[in-house]
Amino acid sequence: MKILTLGAAGFIGSHLTWRLLQEGHTVTAVDLASDKVAEFLGHPNLTFVQQDIRGPEWDLDRLTREADLVIDLIAYANPGLYLRIPLEVFRLNFTENLKIAESCVRHGKRLIQFSTCEVYGRTAASLKNAHLADPEDPIHATFSEDTSEYILGPVSKHRWIYSCAKQLLERVLHAYGLEQGFNYTVVRPFNFIGPKIDFLPQDDKDGIPRVFSFFMEALFNGTPMKLVGGGVNRRCYTYIDDAIECTYRIVLNPGGVCDRQIVNVGSPYNEISIRQMAETMREIYATKFRDAAVPLPAIISVPGEEFYGEGYDDSDRRIPDIAKARRLLGWEPVWSVRDTIEATMRYHVAEHLERLAAGAGS
Ligand code: UGA
Repeated sequence: MKILTLGAAGFIGSHLTWRLLQEGHTVTAVDLASDKVAEFLGHPNLTFVQQDIRGPEWDLDRLTREADLVIDLIAYANPGLYLRIPLEVFRLNFTENLKIAESCVRHGKRLIQFSTCEVYGRTAASLKNAHLADPEDPIHATFSEDTSEYILGPVSKHRWIYSCAKQLLERVLHAYGLEQGFNYTVVRPFNFIGPKIDFLPQDDKDGIPRVFSFFMEALFNGTPMKLVGGGVNRRCYTYIDDAIECTYRIVLNPGGVCDRQIVNVGSPYNEISIRQMAETMREIYATKFRDAAVPLPAIISVPGEEFYGEGYDDSDRRIPDIAKARRLLGWEPVWSVRDTIEATMRYHVAEHLERLAAGAGS
C-alpha cells in the first residue's frame, strides 16, 4: 500500500512508520521535525516531508490523492498544553485535522484518525452526587466505544477543550460516514508508553511532557517526583509494541472490519495509580539503573492547580473495554505493566547516559 502518515515523527507515528516500512509499504511521512525518524530517513520506501500542516500552502490534496490510506496522528496531546494554550489545542486538534479529513472525503480515501481515551472524560464514581454501591468496581471506569456516556467538567475547567475537540472531530467523521459513505477508523489510545515517548521537561520544546518524563527527570536529578493531587488517579499503561500491533491490524483491515468503527487500543490489565507508578519507577531505578552519586528522589504531593495552573481538572480513572479489538482483529495486549515501565525506563536511561557522555566529550 501507499500510505500517507501525518504526524509521522511523533512517539506513536515513528513506531508506526517503522512498522509500515518493515511490512513493505511505501510511506510518505509528514511532520514538523524528523528527530524520532532520523535513524531510518534513508529507507528507500520512505519519503519524508518536513512540514507544519498549519502552513498556508502545502501539498495536502496531492499527497492524499496519491495515497491508498491516510493515517492522521497530528495532535497536541499533553495536558499541560490544554491548560496553557487551549485555543491552539482546539485549532490543531479540530480545525486543522478537519482539513485532513475533508481532503480524504474529497478524494475518497480511507482515513485512520488517532483520537484519545480523553473523550470518555471522568467516571461516574468521581461525581459528588454518585451513590454507587461499590464505587471501586472497575465496571464504573471501563469504557466502551459505542455505549459509554461521556462526563466532562465545566467550561471553566479548560483542560476539557482537548477532549471536546477530539470528540467533535470524531462526530464529524461519523456524520461524513452517515451522509456520504466516508470510510474512516477512529483509534482511541489508552496511555501508550515506550521508547521515544515525549522528551524530558528540560529538553521539551513545549516545556510540558506527560508524567513518565517528569518522573524520569526527577530520578536523574534526585529532585522530587510530584504527584498531582496525591497521585490517586489511575491509568492503564500500554506498551507501544502492543499498541502498534493492534494499529497495524487496523491498517490491514481484513474484510473491512474496521470500516466506520471506533476502536479502543489499550491494556485493561495494566491499571496502576500514579502514586504506584512513581513508587514502581523509583524501585526499578534503585535496583537496575541508579547512579549512586545522585540521591533517590522524594515522592511528594502537589495540588493540580499549582502544578498545571488555572483550569486544571483530571481524568480519574479509565480502563479500555477491548472486546471490539479482540472480536474484529483478534488482538490481545501481552506486555505487563511492570515490563512496560521497565522497558521505557531502559530507553530513557540509555538516552540520558548518551547525553552525559556527549556533554563530557564536548
Ligand atoms: C494524556 C492525554 O491527555 C491523552 O490524550 C493521551 O491519550 C494520554 O496522555 C496518553 O498518554 O495516552 P494523561 O494520562 O492525563 O493524558 O497524561 P499525563 O500528563 O501523563 O498525566 C497522567 C496523570 O499523572 C494525571 O493524573 C496527572 O495529573 C498526573 N501527573 C502528571 C503527576 O502526578 N505528576 C506529574 O509530574 C505529571
